[in-house]
Amino acid sequence: MKNKFYITTPIYYVNDQPHIGHAYTTVIADVLARYYRQKLGDDNVYFLTGTDEHGVKVAESAAKQKITPQKFTDNISQQFKDAWQKLDIKYNDFIRTTEDRHQKIVVNILNQLKQTKTPQGNDVLYEADYQGLYCVGCEKFITEAELVDGQCPDHKRKPEKLVEKNWFFRLGDFLPAIKKAIEADQLIIYPPGRKKEVLGLINKQNMPDFSISRPVKSVAWGIDLPWDKEQKVYVWVDALSNYITALGYPDKELYQKFWPADIQLLALDILKFHALYWPAILMVLDIPLPKGLYIHGFFKINGQKMSKSLGNVVSPNDLVKQYGSEVTKYLILSQFSFGSESDIKINDFPAKYNADLVNGLGNLINRLTNMIEQYLDGDIGLTKKDLEKSLNISKFLSNINQEIEELNFKLALLKIWNIISTVNEEIDKNKPWELAKNNDQQKLKKLLQDWTKYLYNIAVSLQPFMPQTAEHILKILTAKQIKKPVKPLFPRIN
Ligand code: MSP
Repeated sequence: MKNKFYITTPIYYVNDQPHIGHAYTTVIADVLARYYRQKLGDDNVYFLTGTDEHGVKVAESAAKQKITPQKFTDNISQQFKDAWQKLDIKYNDFIRTTEDRHQKIVVNILNQLKQTKTPQGNDVLYEADYQGLYCVGCEKFITEAELVDGQCPDHKRKPEKLVEKNWFFRLGDFLPAIKKAIEADQLIIYPPGRKKEVLGLINKQNMPDFSISRPVKSVAWGIDLPWDKEQKVYVWVDALSNYITALGYPDKELYQKFWPADIQLLALDILKFHALYWPAILMVLDIPLPKGLYIHGFFKINGQKMSKSLGNVVSPNDLVKQYGSEVTKYLILSQFSFGSESDIKINDFPAKYNADLVNGLGNLINRLTNMIEQYLDGDIGLTKKDLEKSLNISKFLSNINQEIEELNFKLALLKIWNIISTVNEEIDKNKPWELAKNNDQQKLKKLLQDWTKYLYNIAVSLQPFMPQTAEHILKILTAKQIKKPVKPLFPRIN
């Protein structure tokens, strides 16, 4: 029986402002964290997010703005925090790779890598020349085959030719063990299609070793390699380590309690790093692998990848301004199934809002509370205990919970909204206003009580997704006197 839950998002690059892609991952993490807090208690859940603040691109952008890289990262990191606050994201910790607490532990990790041998008895790290094409936009080397018209297809810029000394991580020696762990689902990679892809990558032999450091002259903004002052740590060891440095690896209580992570969320763009590099690093450190990597789909905007360089970025702040945090989360999560690729259709949001929130949930709350106020003087005759006893009415909640645990958020919301529609239809069908006119009090009260129980269940099921809405509904239903909300929860937009 699992009694703790540790969930992480990738730490986001600070060369981009927070956009709806980052928001999607973070919202999912928030939903799961809230769900497991209910199930396991607040103390047994840990939700980590943060920002990845080193690298060439950060130094470049800072220089352009004529500020120090630190100042630059302070600004953008704060923008991520602000965006998450506006979205009502309740994380336990926000790690920044420029923080001392992170860098100190990364240095320890590097020293361990340096001292350790691979299962085949080779040094894990070795020095060599690297030559290749490097895309500053991606912060990674790119192959000829990946280029379109001589340019990186994502950043529409020509890669640079590089020959330089790097320290390399001997990845190949770890692949057999990684393969075994993935095949046995000791390291779950979900959905199964992604697992297949990773195994395919491993089987393709010739998976190159990866650089863990680059010369200072190429990457001025980064952590010093402890044994070679001419080199700076290159992104992935620095970035991936955040998942354990934030917990205080190796000896802090948080680390002891929460590692290994239960769910590490990410999108396809960084699957290779998480499914191959990360396990290899953990194997050197001789600590458990995460239980699972959960890969969600990548949004496109009109068929193109969203990026600052392409100028098609959708900001979560704008959505929150228009719809509020609760509805924004609903709209984002109800659009896509976890794991599927998708084009975001922001233009559909107003219609969806009016249909689901205004006419669906909002209407149910208004008419039900209105009838209880009108016909029963606000006294539904159900205590809080009665309502609690009604929980999981017709297995409704356990059904939703199962969907959440399987990361089927769209389906979970669909099921909740099916119940909302059903209750709304029941009200239309039973015409309680006629029962009131005919003085059929008994039947009227029984029906209103049944619907109240359903609304109570709906609110509880919504807690992980729309916590404020859920709380609001629960407050209305458990008040001494049930009253129709003075202001509708979801005003219509045109
Ligand atoms: N800094 C690295 C990650 C290091 S983790 C140890 C990085 N940062 S990133 O800012 O590019 O974030 C990538 C992640 O943001 C994706 O894996 C995904 O979680 C989220 N998304 C960014 N753009 C996205 C979309 N267009 N669609 C969906 N999610 C996207 O990579």
